[in-house]
Amino acid sequence: MLMTPMLEQTVQIVSNERDTDSYFRLVLRAPQIAPLIQPGQFAHVRVLPLKEALLRRPFSIFQVEGDTFSILYKTVGKGTDALARMGAGEELSVIAPLGHGFTVPKRGGENPLLVAGGYGMAAMYLLAQRSPQKGIVFVGGRRRVDILCEEEFQALGWDVRVTTEDGSYGEKGLVTRPLLAELRTPNSELRTPKLFACGPTGMLKAVGRIADEFDVPAELSMDEHMCCGVGVCLTCVIPVRSGSSWEYQRTCTEGPVFDAQNIAWERAD
Ligand SMILES: Cc1cc2nc3c(=O)[nH]c(=O)nc-3n(C[C@H](O)[C@H](O)[C@H](O)COP(=O)(O)OP(=O)(O)OC[C@H]3O[C@@H](n4cnc5c(N)ncnc54)[C@H](O)[C@@H]3O)c2cc1C
Ligand code: FES
Repeated sequence: MLMTPMLEQTVQIVSNERDTDSYFRLVLRAPQIAPLIQPGQFAHVRVLPLKEALLRRPFSIFQVEGDTFSILYKTVGKGTDALARMGAGEELSVIAPLGHGFTVPKRGGENPLLVAGGYGMAAMYLLAQRSPQKGIVFVGGRRRVDILCEEEFQALGWDVRVTTEDGSYGEKGLVTRPLLAELRTPNSELRTPKLFACGPTGMLKAVGRIADEFDVPAELSMDEHMCCGVGVCLTCVIPVRSGSSWEYQRTCTEGPVFDAQNIAWERAD
């Protein structure tokens, strides 16, 4: 996992367009930030027109192209609703890139299995793009509209397996179902699987259990509420094993990506 310098900048919106349903893609021109970004890192965004909400909102960095980077976000409340009303040419304040991201697999190394729920796909794209080893992406959502960027992952040469809880697209059920099936396949071509996951906490917990059961390494991107985003306020801490004991670590600085085996789930709320 790499740590890179972060910058606080006012950046211009290149585009902000609806993807599916309540999901939007926001492209920002940020020539100094874009080259620094590592897979799994995030941007802390202040929506300048939103006067009553001074707090920034964290979003995974989705794609990097030239001097721009993008985020893929779901509108869920005040901040993201205000963001969705902004357009090209308007400005946002961002601190980025933040956090420890994913470890990119080496050529000939582990076989990456990515597991994503909903907007968790956003955190996975750069990992898939920069990994010399192609693998399988397991993507799950409640409904068809929650399945994001399937074709973009396929265009990178990855095998994409889709599940929806309502069965409206792909296999019906939870995203862990085809993952388990793959890990249980006796003649699987996976020599040394490694899991990478981003999504709701319940899904991350399940992936952690699966990693344990099959004795495979896993990196999980934890989705915790954040305030400062830069390690000062301790809003975002989670319990992490340390020797024979445990300690709180900050998901904004030590994370958001942690080795699954280090997370002390039994101590979490
Ligand atoms: C490291 C990290 C990366 C993230 N990446 C993305 C991303 O790529 N795309 C994306 O759409 N969202 C992402 N999120 C979640 C995003 O930060 C929240 O959805 C956003 O802050 C909500 O702001 P709001 O003002 O619209 O909602 P609020 O009005 O603050 O809250 C509305 C609802 O959203 C819930 N909510 C707020 N923050 C979170 C959170 N962190 N996780 C789950 N629910 C939350 C609240 O509990 C409430 O129910 C990420 C969060 C973290 C910590
Ligand atoms: S959000 Fe403030 S320490 Fe992590």
